[in-house]
Amino acid sequence: MSGVVAPGLEGVPIAESGISFVDGEKGVLEYRGINIDNLAAESTFEEVCYLLLKGSVPSESQLKDFESHLCENRKLRDGVIKIIRTLEPTGHPMDALQAAVAATGMFFKHNVSDPGYRYLAAIQLIAKLPTMVAAFARIRKEQEPIEPDHSLGHAANFLYMLTGEKPPEPAAHILDVCLILHADHTMNASTFSARVVGSTLADPFTVVCSAIGALSGPLHGGANERVVKLLQEIGTLDNVEPYINAKMDAKEKIMGFGHRVYKTNDPRATVLRGLADELLKSDGDNGVLKIARRVEEVVTARLGTKGIYANVDFYSGLVYNKLDLETDLFTPIFAIARVSGWLAHWLEQLEDNRIYRPRQIYSGEHGVTIARPK
Ligand code: CMC
Repeated sequence: MSGVVAPGLEGVPIAESGISFVDGEKGVLEYRGINIDNLAAESTFEEVCYLLLKGSVPSESQLKDFESHLCENRKLRDGVIKIIRTLEPTGHPMDALQAAVAATGMFFKHNVSDPGYRYLAAIQLIAKLPTMVAAFARIRKEQEPIEPDHSLGHAANFLYMLTGEKPPEPAAHILDVCLILHADHTMNASTFSARVVGSTLADPFTVVCSAIGALSGPLHGGANERVVKLLQEIGTLDNVEPYINAKMDAKEKIMGFGHRVYKTNDPRATVLRGLADELLKSDGDNGVLKIARRVEEVVTARLGTKGIYANVDFYSGLVYNKLDLETDLFTPIFAIARVSGWLAHWLEQLEDNRIYRPRQIYSGEHGVTIARPK
């Protein structure tokens, strides 16, 4: 047995998985063998959820049933809405989401060995996360939550539940593509967290709570919020170079750049860059897209040789900002998408489960007796 610690488990395989695939050198991402570009161009988030959970693209009738199951389960229990009303309005929506997911789990009799229960729980979680995020976003502003609209798709309904207005088709489509792009990404920190908790045979609501916690950190899902703050702080095109150079000279990380796996362009960022271009082309000289493009040039010129490029969060922050979504909802939106991947991994983990129990290398002392400080 090796006695060498791999910090961050870099390069250590922790599971066999057939869900998603990344080639970090070539910049390729596939779900169940299908290239992300193909899915972003031709699929919907609902279809991608089915693909991730079940392993294959649904037939027309299978997709229709799946979409109906999602629609029927969007509504939150009254008890959960009551709990959301008691949450601190200035708190972070990721914490509210964890609380709402945990509270929802309390309404179920869990039986993770039952395939019927597993499917039902997966549907409940994918369907309800957007409703939870939208409910907290409104309640904290002293607005009443809006009931889901069954005539709308997953992405459009989320936008509708935030404002009460049916979103224009391009906005709904762009959010749908963003959800597709964020749905799964091999063994990232939150997915690993989901698999670890799943391996204890904990219920899937608890599994998803743990993954939401992992996703909330600034090195994982929390980066897209910080990208918008960075661009706002920069403010003008002329300020890009001095600002970025000063940050890099101070050895600070630039949010929205770098990836453990991609050493070339993140393919999700490439799709989102195209969407951002479309959305932001009418902005003025100091428009956020122009500033973002300049930031990308400056950072890539300094760090591209180290394999550091813009990642998915750099452009998702921009796109969400343009869709008028509140900045602290960006990471919850990531969770709304990634819950499908977490659950696919949870299901896969249960197929051949063994509780995670890695090893440590003890570096402390032995044989110490109690000596309390005076
Ligand atoms: N800005 C400046 N330097 C960077 C950056 C960055 N964003 N990312 C990595 N580096 C440098 C880092 O300072 C280190 O330099 P040196 O070798 O001189 O010490 C080198 O690159 C390796 O960095 P690392 O932090 O050891 O790399 P990692 O694989 O552990 O971390 C990362 C990957 C994503 C956590 C990191 O690139 C980072 O913190 N990026 C900023 C946060 C961010 O955008 N996160 C979103 C990731 S994509 C969404 C997701 O999949 O979760």
